[in-house]
Amino acid sequence: MTHRPRVIIGNWKMHKSADEAKAFVRAFLAAFPWPAEAIVGLAVSFTLIAPVVKEATDSPLWIGAQNMNDASEGAFTGEIAGPMLKDAGASFVLLGHSERRRYYGEEDAFINRKVRQALACGIKPVLCVGETQEERSSQSTDRVLETQLTLGLSHVLPEEAEQLIVAYEPVWAIGQRESASREEIKQAHGHCRAILKELFGPAAADKIAILYGGSVSASNAKVLLGVDDVDGLLVGGASLCLENFLKIVNDSLLT
Ligand code: PGA
Repeated sequence: MTHRPRVIIGNWKMHKSADEAKAFVRAFLAAFPWPAEAIVGLAVSFTLIAPVVKEATDSPLWIGAQNMNDASEGAFTGEIAGPMLKDAGASFVLLGHSERRRYYGEEDAFINRKVRQALACGIKPVLCVGETQEERSSQSTDRVLETQLTLGLSHVLPEEAEQLIVAYEPVWAIGQRESASREEIKQAHGHCRAILKELFGPAAADKIAILYGGSVSASNAKVLLGVDDVDGLLVGGASLCLENFLKIVNDSLLT
């Protein structure tokens, strides 16, 4: 099996001013023991990318965006293009987050075009997949993951797979007090890995990190990182607090 580095990504969603974001990054970099065997990233609002990238100059911290358009430019008022994110210094982008799917009607075909556009721009796509409570209750979890991964990654070549990250985020576990259980996560990650193998072949699929997301906290990160096939974490609420995020990142180095 390929050795995959741990990947911890904080998803700040629609939070923080530039001053708050810069202060966070400054303190994080001062406290974090680089060089470390983990990749750490922050997915921030568009307006924060450039200032935070500047603050993180010469550090290995990845700064990324939370969404982008599927076109490289054009008459799409209010949208942002991959080359603009690249220009601002983003190295990755979250795509297909359940909040985008749910509140803004994003569908798999659109998400797939974004994934391909991100790859074309040299930005790593972090494709988020996961079932709703209803889908889990009707035993459709496997089918949902299959659909979201197969359609979301359609036309992506095995040689591009290394650039990809997948995040399994059960929608019902996001923003709650408790994450999904170890067993639920193990099953879903195993299934995602099997689908990736079908899509890209075992060698290429082995290079793709699969992160878990959904109510990750400073107190459960260690346990979650110990689950089979969990290569890292996508952390929402807990990544807003420096102390919690540092604890999660430190746990990822020890587990
Ligand atoms: P949460 O969010 O950690 O606050 O549950 C995770 C996410 O939505 O990416």
